[in-house]
Amino acid sequence: MKFFVDTADTTEIKALAETGLIDGVTTNPSLIAKSGRNFADVIAEICDLTPGHVSAEVVATDYETMLSEGKKLQAIAGNVAVKLPLTMDGLRACRSLADAGTAVNVTLCFSANQALLAAKAGAAYISPFIGRLDDINVDGMELIEDIRTIYDNYLFETEILAASIRSANHVKLSALAGADVATLPPNVLRGLVDHPLTDKGLAAFLEDARKGGVKV
Ligand code: E4P
Repeated sequence: MKFFVDTADTTEIKALAETGLIDGVTTNPSLIAKSGRNFADVIAEICDLTPGHVSAEVVATDYETMLSEGKKLQAIAGNVAVKLPLTMDGLRACRSLADAGTAVNVTLCFSANQALLAAKAGAAYISPFIGRLDDINVDGMELIEDIRTIYDNYLFETEILAASIRSANHVKLSALAGADVATLPPNVLRGLVDHPLTDKGLAAFLEDARKGGVKV
């Protein structure tokens, strides 16, 4: 499973990239706004921090403007994946950009049929939003499972990018359901390493080593 980090905070991205654990980055207009920085500048800086795909989202809603925004974003760096919303215009722009060789991440997916459309439009990634479904008492994991089955039935190559992940349990369940990628907020990614028995066991080993004068 690939891990993307879901943030536009370049300090966080740099630190996580140094661990070797991340395969790319996702952003959205809310995360870019939160960074308080110029859109193109922040995307260019992120693209330098990882060789993997960096999703940058358009803010237009009509086909023509989405296409021109998508081309502008793609020109920032070779590893930009243009993020488009799951609307008819978004799907049309997805087909045009994909035909021109651009990786597209179709976002705001909340149903299996939407995911089927994105695959038919040539999306490189489909982003089902797990946490936002859970927020309205719909099982986000069932959506990942359904998309996995549909894509496998027809050998679609679109990668399932589990998004809106809020907890370590979401990560585990997405992996079990066969998501290709999970995009994680930095705190969730860092939290995956934690286990009280690891801490307890390490403390005991170190104490025994100290008492026994063990040196490497
Ligand atoms: C992913 O691409 C989205 O930017 C993100 O996962 C949305 O997460 P949220 O629902 O926590 O805002």
